[in-house]
Amino acid sequence: MQAIRILIVGFGNVGQGFFELLTRVKGRLGLNVVVTEIIDRRRGHIINPKPSILNEAIQGRLLGDKVEVDEIPRLISESNADIMCEFTDLVVRSKGEPAFTYLATALRSGKHVITTNKGPIAFHYDELMELSRRYGKLVRFKGTVMAGTPSFNILNLLPGAHVESFMGILNGTTNFILTKMYEEGLSFDDALRLAQQLGYAEADPSLDIDGLDAALKTIILSRVIGWKHELEGMEVRGIRGIDIRGYGDKVVKLIAYADKDKAYVKPIPLDKNDILAHVSRNLNALRLRLDTLGELTIIGPGAGRYETAQAVLTDLVDILNAMRH
Ligand SMILES: NC(=O)c1ccc[n+]([C@@H]2O[C@H](COP(=O)([O-])OP(=O)(O)OC[C@H]3O[C@@H](n4cnc5c(N)ncnc54)[C@H](OP(=O)(O)O)[C@@H]3O)[C@@H](O)[C@H]2O)c1
Repeated sequence: MQAIRILIVGFGNVGQGFFELLTRVKGRLGLNVVVTEIIDRRRGHIINPKPSILNEAIQGRLLGDKVEVDEIPRLISESNADIMCEFTDLVVRSKGEPAFTYLATALRSGKHVITTNKGPIAFHYDELMELSRRYGKLVRFKGTVMAGTPSFNILNLLPGAHVESFMGILNGTTNFILTKMYEEGLSFDDALRLAQQLGYAEADPSLDIDGLDAALKTIILSRVIGWKHELEGMEVRGIRGIDIRGYGDKVVKLIAYADKDKAYVKPIPLDKNDILAHVSRNLNALRLRLDTLGELTIIGPGAGRYETAQAVLTDLVDILNAMRH
């Protein structure tokens, strides 16, 4: 049988991590798939990449035909791949473009899609679901919330369960900063600097520390559950300049919360006997309140090259299983 063809768009950390993980495990998992194309703004348009591409990709130079961003939708449309994996950067000011256009183009040209990019899912959820229905192709995005750690996809294991609310620690960078402030007595500025030195925080950390990253994840979780929250009108407060003294015994965490009526992200002091108060360093956590099980809490990594590649592999196997039926 002919192998299922994969097109990767965006070949940075996550793209390379996924390519490497797939190369390593596909034999063991019996996956009849092959990456036939890579399109990347910096590295160009690469046809039939060999595993050795990873040694060169890390240097970030052009490895195939040069591409202009404007021509990427056409290249996606013309590609004969069966599945497109989209790993380009989140752009909030353009509400997830051009990634949304890439995903929409792939669906319209008959490809299933996987993305780890929060922008198109948080800002264009309804449109993507409509395109998915219209063209009969799947949209998967596990990596947008808690990387490969099960989050909303755990609901597939709980048929009939109704989510009443959720509460979580969905941003690892801010959790790392708060942990360092508690454990080592660092000021906010020193803890942020340390997070940047260790590569947990970007040079421009505002998406994380002002709460927007957690807010987009809150919207994505909400949409999957069926609630229509949007960024506009949502209370979003981060931890910039936070002083953790003055909360007594309590432990402040940047909490994302939603139920059907409201959604917010803000620093909240938690009791020491709350499990979430013990989620430390850059770990993430999600506590679902379900009508069948009561509280269910999941704790695990929320970012990283291989941690996010795991999410893509989970989505890929899901799509391959659906294609078989
Ligand atoms: N890294 C993680 O732990 C993690 C976890 C969960 C989700 N994510 C999400 O996954 C996505 C990829 O993350 P990453 O860490 O792999 O980022 P990255 O290392 O910056 O890689 C992104 C790659 O995509 C290219 N690119 C950017 N915009 C493009 C465009 N419009 N068209 C074509 N190529 C484009 C970039 O090229 P240039 O070098 O020219 O910019 C770069 O090679 C992001 O949306 C991120 O938010 C990441």
